[in-house]
Amino acid sequence: MSISIAEVEESAASALSAIAGAKDLAELKVVKIEHLGDKSGLSKASQALGKVPAEEKASFGKIVGEAKAKVSAAFEARIKVLEADRDARVLIEERVDVTLPATNIPKGGLHPLTILTNEISDLFLGLGYRVAEGPELEAEWLNFDALNIPADHPARTMQDTFFIEPLDSRLVLRTHTSPVQIRTMLENKPPIYVICPGRTYRADELDATHTPVFSQVEGLVIDRGITMADLKGTLDYFAQSIFGPDVVTRLRPSFFPFTEPSAEVDFFFNGRWIEWGGCGMVNPKVLEVCGIDTKEFSGFAFGMGLERTLMVRHGITDMHDIVEGDIRFTRSFGLGIK
Ligand code: PHE
Repeated sequence: MSISIAEVEESAASALSAIAGAKDLAELKVVKIEHLGDKSGLSKASQALGKVPAEEKASFGKIVGEAKAKVSAAFEARIKVLEADRDARVLIEERVDVTLPATNIPKGGLHPLTILTNEISDLFLGLGYRVAEGPELEAEWLNFDALNIPADHPARTMQDTFFIEPLDSRLVLRTHTSPVQIRTMLENKPPIYVICPGRTYRADELDATHTPVFSQVEGLVIDRGITMADLKGTLDYFAQSIFGPDVVTRLRPSFFPFTEPSAEVDFFFNGRWIEWGGCGMVNPKVLEVCGIDTKEFSGFAFGMGLERTLMVRHGITDMHDIVEGDIRFTRSFGLGIK
């Protein structure tokens, strides 16, 4: 195999023009294989050096060497230009517009009733109370008998109880949070300061002011020397914290089997008296059932509906809004509802 100087020069020239003509790095790669690879004219020229007569070897070798160096240098220069081109293009093509509107993933929020429950819990925790909880499916004995509501007492039907089958299971859906009072007194020795927030059930139709599933918060204090004045002071503080500093409460005589004396508590809000809940001094009969010495200890209890509290405070007129879980309603409360 022999090769002429003209052929070397031609190979070099066509390599140079191919390199110059490569428009991007991919094209340049193809050019490299063709013009600088093992089968290129310049490589063949190098291989042919061995067969060149000895006296021509030096000058022919120099020509081939120079041609290869020139082509390699052109290649290196071209690759730099094309890389810089690519980098500049990537910056433009892959630019992220940080001002574009983002996908808004809505965060969950607490239901207004939960927010109110937390608020009330915080309030009483600040007064040194504990928060006590009990089951919604409750022993009939704890929901009624222990609270001095015997089997033939009208309160059992008055409270529209959901009884659970089989009936001899003696289980009910609790009609109030008062059984948590009993559980607390059976499990703890006085002094006792607790509030019991929770869900309660009565067989009502859902309408603008009733719901078969509702929530109550109950308060219970058992200590030495507790009087109705303590109850009144606690209710005033509670009402003012929830409805505003100028709110006053009043007690109206009433009846509950588990308190004696008993009262309804109202509060004055937006120019009128509003019924809030029931309260009274814990009936000694109830204390005795729980093994509490009535000569040493006395106590008060109160209980109110949370839906009603929320409705009055926020001017909600329809109970459906609270129970139906429409996010448009819940959202209007934001996360802090005051
Ligand atoms: N448990 C009563 C009810 O649901 C409310 C209440 C609680 C009354 C505590 C007095 C004392 O109607």
